[in-house]
Amino acid sequence: MSIVKTSFFLVYLSFGSYFYCVFRRFRESDKTKLNYLTISTILESLTKVIAYIFTFLITAVAICFVLVLYIGTIPQETIAAVPVKIIDVPKKLTKQQGKGQVLFKANCSSCHKLFKRSTGPELLGISEKYEREWLYSWIKNSQELISSGDVQAMRIYNEYKQTNMNSFPQLSNEDIDDILAYTNAYQ
Ligand code: HEC
Repeated sequence: MSIVKTSFFLVYLSFGSYFYCVFRRFRESDKTKLNYLTISTILESLTKVIAYIFTFLITAVAICFVLVLYIGTIPQETIAAVPVKIIDVPKKLTKQQGKGQVLFKANCSSCHKLFKRSTGPELLGISEKYEREWLYSWIKNSQELISSGDVQAMRIYNEYKQTNMNSFPQLSNEDIDDILAYTNAYQ
């Protein structure tokens, strides 16, 4: 925060010196009229011009600096978080959802996200899209389901450019229930 304060101070300083220069020129204009051709007045006006340019430069740099700092302080999530806020985020997961979260992170999160498509489809509320039994066999071994000619499995497989999902024969139906409880947790 002290950087912001410093740059504000710089802006005030440069504005201040700029107006001071203008004020002085105004006060001195009467005097300079009398001896406007002496070397000292030429030198004086030269230094004034340099001072003007300098204060303008400092002001411009300081304003840019403050702007950059200001933009940097806008949290990037502000924009991205807006659509997510519509969904009710539970404060605490149930015990089953907690177990599901652990399993999801260990097995599925490399390819699936809850809210948006990655390698595989987003899995938020997936249990409402398909039959529970179908989900058990898909998650345990999706390739087997595809080669058995299951229309639904083949449609998903083709939609995702025939990327293979891993098989999880080690997961029991209860494990899968836990995962599905977790993928419903944010609805
Ligand atoms: C290696 C990457 C990968 C992993 C790991 C993975 N999946 Fe998938 N999953 C996919 C892909 C790719 C698809 C799209 C269908 C296809 O191409 O086979 C998919 C499709 C699905 C679908 C169908 C979704 C729909 O909307 O049609 C479900 C349900 C699913 N996965 C659940 C899981 C679960 C649960 C896990 C963890 C136990 C998991 N997946 C782990 C890649 C993966």
